[in-house]
Amino acid sequence: MLKKKIVIGNWKMNPPAKKEAESIFKSVLKNLNPKRKTEVVICPPFLYLESLKKLSKKVSLGAQDVFWEEKGAYTGEVSADMIYNIGARYVILGHSERRALGESNIDVNKKIKQSFSVGLIPVVCVGESVRDENHEYLNFVKTQVEECLFGVSKNFISKVIIAYEPVWAIGKNAVREATSEEFREMSIFIKKILSDKFGAKTIEQIRIIYGGSVHPENALGFLQEGADGFLAGRDSLDPKKFSEIIKICS
Ligand code: 13P
Repeated sequence: MLKKKIVIGNWKMNPPAKKEAESIFKSVLKNLNPKRKTEVVICPPFLYLESLKKLSKKVSLGAQDVFWEEKGAYTGEVSADMIYNIGARYVILGHSERRALGESNIDVNKKIKQSFSVGLIPVVCVGESVRDENHEYLNFVKTQVEECLFGVSKNFISKVIIAYEPVWAIGKNAVREATSEEFREMSIFIKKILSDKFGAKTIEQIRIIYGGSVHPENALGFLQEGADGFLAGRDSLDPKKFSEIIKICS
């Protein structure tokens, strides 16, 4: 079975007001080809999920994080159930910007299990901060994949989406853009780790997408090297560029 491509927009902590969020969302909707074969997901800040959900069902919604407990006395946290009940179906987990605030692989692992238990599809971010000459970064990513997915049931594992986001290629302060060959190498490596852990058959449907300075100009290269889609940051807030990336995927 052919895997459906997926383009996910991570709005991060933007925009500052609901009106603006609705306006970006509407522009994305306007540019969507109804016959497209690509899945489109927008991950706005929690606060905007409800109003965006009301605007349209044509685009899926996702959260940018979730807590690992089901409910209770956890001030400031948002549960997977809350996200699901508001109509979102995806959740970005283990983003490097959250890891930079102290999130560990063990935290991500608990969040993945909790998300699956309510029906949310986790988009699990992995990626190294630096590419060293000794290729230690490969071990780093291996540990991330293994620890984040530790003990995840075989029934769920094929639904997981892995986003390879090299930290050095993210954001306007990126050291440089990643090349499509670098993505290809890493995606083969990740598939091998998954296949060793969960079996080649189980992992056939797992999508490995690319994130980190994705633009209309470089998207095709990553697709040609096997990317199953994208996790876009800055360009997801620019409806024209985001729509262009979706078109390239389709
Ligand atoms: P940029 O596309 O802005 O580099 O952000 C990538 C990212 O972190 C998506 O999750």
